[in-house]
Amino acid sequence: MTASNLIDNEAGTLSRDIFSSEEIFGREVKRVIAPAWSYVGHTSQVPNSGDFFASRCGVERVIVTRDPSGAINVLSNSCRHRGMPVCRYDSGNSADFTCSYHGWSYALDGALTGVPKFRELYQGKLEKEKWGLIKARVSIFHGSIWATFDDAVPAFEDYIGEDMLFYLRTLLQGPDGEDDGYEVIGGIVKWQVPCNWKFGAENFAGDHYHGYSHLSVERLSVGTSGKKSRHNFAADKTARQPMFLADPARGHTIRASVYREVPEYTVQEAASDEVNDYYRKAHEEKCRRLGDHARLLIHGGVIFPNTHFNSAGRTTIGVWLPISAARTEVWRWLFVPRNAPAVVKDTLREYYLRYAGPAGLVEQDDMENWTAAQRGTEGLMSSKYPFNYQLAMGLERRARPDEWLGRNVTITENTTEHNQRVFYAHWASRMEQQP
Ligand code: FES
Ligand SMILES: [Fe+2]
Repeated sequence: MTASNLIDNEAGTLSRDIFSSEEIFGREVKRVIAPAWSYVGHTSQVPNSGDFFASRCGVERVIVTRDPSGAINVLSNSCRHRGMPVCRYDSGNSADFTCSYHGWSYALDGALTGVPKFRELYQGKLEKEKWGLIKARVSIFHGSIWATFDDAVPAFEDYIGEDMLFYLRTLLQGPDGEDDGYEVIGGIVKWQVPCNWKFGAENFAGDHYHGYSHLSVERLSVGTSGKKSRHNFAADKTARQPMFLADPARGHTIRASVYREVPEYTVQEAASDEVNDYYRKAHEEKCRRLGDHARLLIHGGVIFPNTHFNSAGRTTIGVWLPISAARTEVWRWLFVPRNAPAVVKDTLREYYLRYAGPAGLVEQDDMENWTAAQRGTEGLMSSKYPFNYQLAMGLERRARPDEWLGRNVTITENTTEHNQRVFYAHWASRMEQQP
């Protein structure tokens, strides 16, 4: 079956099979997941020479290291001898990695440095320089680390595109507007969900239609605003224009708002004076640094295909890691402002844990939906009845003339499934490519 039979862009429908078919899943791993730049972590996780952490690059298991030259490497965590993971820890500091099976050892840049019985049994002939750990292409962008094992994928800047680079840079600016202003707090939060990875991806890409799901948590004050809301920012929608941005050539999507004027600092009633003092000063500094751009509030989005992020008072980046058609592992990095006092970092950490991840009240709602919806893709008759993505089709309006919001993106100001349609159109175009 071709991807064009699965997705009908004109009608705004798509086959349920793309969520449940293992045959389609096998092809999408090769054609959609592998040929991409993936977020693999953050430089704050490897500040010193010898620091490392285990991560994923698409479906590959990798080690991210900082070597003695200061360079960051992304290495396949698979011994070249028989494939054992050479690193069995989540993170740490080491001079090298020694495989626990036969004892081959590798330097922090992946070079094969030690082979037991090298002289006696390989007669010194094994060409060590050819048997190092497989290295990914790496790009560092304002502290975020990206990698791909695909040589045919364009350079990182071209893959992301100039508009999304602007949003990604903004995402990684601290509350005071400083570039690379965040650090990772704690370890990487990891959990599995029994659903297809695209349920999460399309939700982050543009779903502002499911507020209904979160009505119960909206009645609580999980945020720091002190208001009955899950968010920290002011709920007043007359002050800001929600926007949905999508890059049709690349499949990336963003949800954001633009305030009509640079907003005043909003006191977080549920937080301490110390926390408010930090955020008030940071807000003033951000307005000074960014000027008119301080009107932008990023809510979240997806860097195609499976890197996703949340912002607007809770900066997190994650990846949907496909395991099978009906199972996904989620890895989520939680960020706090690097220069903030400990009380601010603690306040944010607690907010993240109330909000997101397997214990978070908001994400539990989402996961319940995706898991139950997955079952709706698995019946024998289900493939005859496509899903509906027609919300606000044809009603896309270019929201604002502001050039800085992007030149190559479509911008829509009404609630829509336009971002999801762009995501799936790009998915279909990737599925038509030869691996
Ligand atoms: S599998 Fe690593 S040394 Fe044999
Ligand atoms: Fe949600």
